[in-house]
Amino acid sequence: MTQPALSPRFSNAFAEVVHAGLRKHPQKELPSMYLYDEVGSALFEVITALPEYGVTRAEERVLKDHATDIVAAMPGDVKVAELGSGSGRKTRRILEALCKKQPTAYHPIEISRTALQLCHRELSDIERVSIVGHERDYLTGLSEVSSKRKAGERLLVLFLGSTIGNFARLAATKFLRSIRGMLQPSDALLLGTDLIKPLPILIAAYDDPIGVTAAFNLNVLARINRELGGDFPLDAFEHVARFNPDARSIEMHLRAKRALSVRVRDADLRVEFREGETIWTESSHKYATGEVAPIAADAGFECTHQWRDEEWQFAESLLVAR
Ligand code: AVI
Repeated sequence: MTQPALSPRFSNAFAEVVHAGLRKHPQKELPSMYLYDEVGSALFEVITALPEYGVTRAEERVLKDHATDIVAAMPGDVKVAELGSGSGRKTRRILEALCKKQPTAYHPIEISRTALQLCHRELSDIERVSIVGHERDYLTGLSEVSSKRKAGERLLVLFLGSTIGNFARLAATKFLRSIRGMLQPSDALLLGTDLIKPLPILIAAYDDPIGVTAAFNLNVLARINRELGGDFPLDAFEHVARFNPDARSIEMHLRAKRALSVRVRDADLRVEFREGETIWTESSHKYATGEVAPIAADAGFECTHQWRDEEWQFAESLLVAR
């Protein structure tokens, strides 16, 4: 998730991305990373507690039940890096299991300083853990952690929560390949993937009845208004979650309820919407059980173990660098 190079016309990357994304034809779009400002991140935390959104609880169950097995599959002197620090709840299981065996250095990598501080607060009570946060994008942070390891130290990289699902399939393989490029043989990546499941369950997970996901999605327009001097009337847009069978993904969109014209001052933009036109804000790809191993192989890993949650259909895969 590297930032695009900034053109001198815009004061920040968000302005540039909004300018380019809302001028796209025929499908306007905004990259999903911009859903996560302070408000969006707080709303996402609420999503993870919704009864309809089983992803987070499923992964917590897998890690609670199998943390010891995961750690046993990675013998030796292990240092942990995590792409995105999350709330720390899931990572606790892994760190506690590792710290029973050895003092453990944990390196969360995250572009948000607030998230790093939260993660530090959440996990620093674990006995024998030392936490070193990296306020960097994933790959820059990972190369920093990987290059500074001691001789003989194995790196366990955590990429949890099915965040990989928010990459398009080809981009996901490319991203795994970039991760592999920063690792040494016998380092490993623990990858969480949400699995394909019946459509009504998937739709409800991304369009909950009390409207938290709708608020999470609409917040990106509110953010444009707050940060870039936009004049989006929020009540003129509605949240839509739909399944794309070709991509096997749930797409989130924001649909204009009527024809309207919007101005975004700092993105140097006036943009027209037809009634029913949408802005595509996120895709969440769902994987088949057997799909992870070949993708991993393509990226230079061997999938040595997979632990599954049967209740929600979620897989945690251990991919060892070849
Ligand atoms: C962060 N990511 C894995 C979530 C997902 O399920 O794709 C983001 C999300 N969007 C709506 N609900 C949750």
